[in-house]
Amino acid sequence: MQAISRRLGRRSFKLSPSISSLKSIYPISDFHYAVDRPRYASTLTSKGAGHIVRKGTGGRSSVSGIVATVFGATGFLGRYLVQQLAKMGSQVLVPFRGSEDSARHLKLMGDLGQIVPMNYNPRDENSIKAAMAKANVVINLIGREYETRNYSFEEVNHHMAEQLAVISKEHGGIMRFIQVSCLGASPTSPSRFLRAKAAADEAILRVLPEASIMRPSTMIGIEDRILNRWASFVKKYSFLPLIGNGSTKIQPVYVVDVAGAIVAALKDDGSSMGKVYELGGPEIFTVHQLAELMYDTIREWPHYVNVPFSIAKAIASPREILLHKVPFPLPTPDIFNLDAIHALTVDTIVSENALTFADLGIIPHKLKGYPVEYLAVYRKVTNVHRFTRIFEVGYFQIGVPNAEANWNSSHSHLGNIDSPPA
Ligand SMILES: NC(=O)c1ccc[n+]([C@@H]2O[C@H](COP(=O)([O-])OP(=O)(O)OC[C@H]3O[C@@H](n4cnc5c(N)ncnc54)[C@H](OP(=O)(O)O)[C@@H]3O)[C@@H](O)[C@H]2O)c1
Repeated sequence: MQAISRRLGRRSFKLSPSISSLKSIYPISDFHYAVDRPRYASTLTSKGAGHIVRKGTGGRSSVSGIVATVFGATGFLGRYLVQQLAKMGSQVLVPFRGSEDSARHLKLMGDLGQIVPMNYNPRDENSIKAAMAKANVVINLIGREYETRNYSFEEVNHHMAEQLAVISKEHGGIMRFIQVSCLGASPTSPSRFLRAKAAADEAILRVLPEASIMRPSTMIGIEDRILNRWASFVKKYSFLPLIGNGSTKIQPVYVVDVAGAIVAALKDDGSSMGKVYELGGPEIFTVHQLAELMYDTIREWPHYVNVPFSIAKAIASPREILLHKVPFPLPTPDIFNLDAIHALTVDTIVSENALTFADLGIIPHKLKGYPVEYLAVYRKVTNVHRFTRIFEVGYFQIGVPNAEANWNSSHSHLGNIDSPPA
């Protein structure tokens, strides 16, 4: 870290070659672009995260000094990460593709002008450079667990990440590069997605040895793609298919904790640089046990149909076979995603000697309670008033012993949390 800071310190106010080439591509006046006029230029880029000027009390109107380009911020984890970065007064550049609406919800998370959506094209190197030009931190959340006609697993999960690392290195002012990979990423994984993630991690560390790699397990939260899918399947069909009889072990994690881990890595003294963290929740579940938690929260009687792996693969295969053969896009796979079924054939839990949340000073939340309370929307009867109270109380009392009992005794007029409203 110190070596990098010294190296970058010597470059203060020098125009980086990548930025000058950017100016030739984007004909923006010096006044606005301001890279070669120290008076207007951001000094943050040349000083880096270790020397940034912090101002204020640390709230959203402060200046944390972090100017982060968050690729993939329009997704699930992105909203929690942007919120946490913005809450401490960071400027967040949000490259988005497609509609402006995809980044709109993020603008409210920071002070006026602190969240800057920027249209980009992930296949256009110059637009990526433009999105990074003013940043001193790059975080890559781009990823997709299924293939489309346009994008292969390898392009999205490996090549794009590697390209971001190469551009960050050329940039010269990026002090921290954080890659969000996936627990279970390995060159020998049965899943192509996880093999692509492993290849990306390896390539990034080769290009930027000081990058930090976060490997979260399946993430749980309001917009998650596991419990929500299960719950809506149950509401439609009154049963849940248990692939591989639900015996695979997983270690799901609360999405807010993953965002917290990324921010903790950014705020440290550089000790997380060049390291790989495996971010699993505090409990290991079998798929069946996690499904029980879902049923419990949506207050339905559990009904399962056991689906052996061979049958699940047969159900999921037609999409993959037809994907490049038919001249139109095919539906997005959800429960029967062939690659995810391959991944489920092995347990995915944090390895024994891995660096974890504890090494970043974070205690991850247990899932039961507030983190899965959003599933209440799938209940037959939801008392909105009581639900809101549970949200408030749950938020402050997670991890507090007897929190539910305390709440019940002090709010007895509303009934018990666990019993359905009268
Ligand atoms: N969700 C999980 O349970 C989980 C678990 C472990 C690891 N991860 C990894 O964590 C990261 C964030 O996960 P997430 O759940 O927030 O993912 P997500 O909701 O699917 O969002 C993925 C982001 O990647 C972008 N993206 C996808 N394909 C792209 C493409 N071809 N070109 C450019 N951008 C593309 C999306 O942009 P658009 O909005 O434009 O599509 C979106 O911003 C991903 O790398 C994921 O693989 C996720």
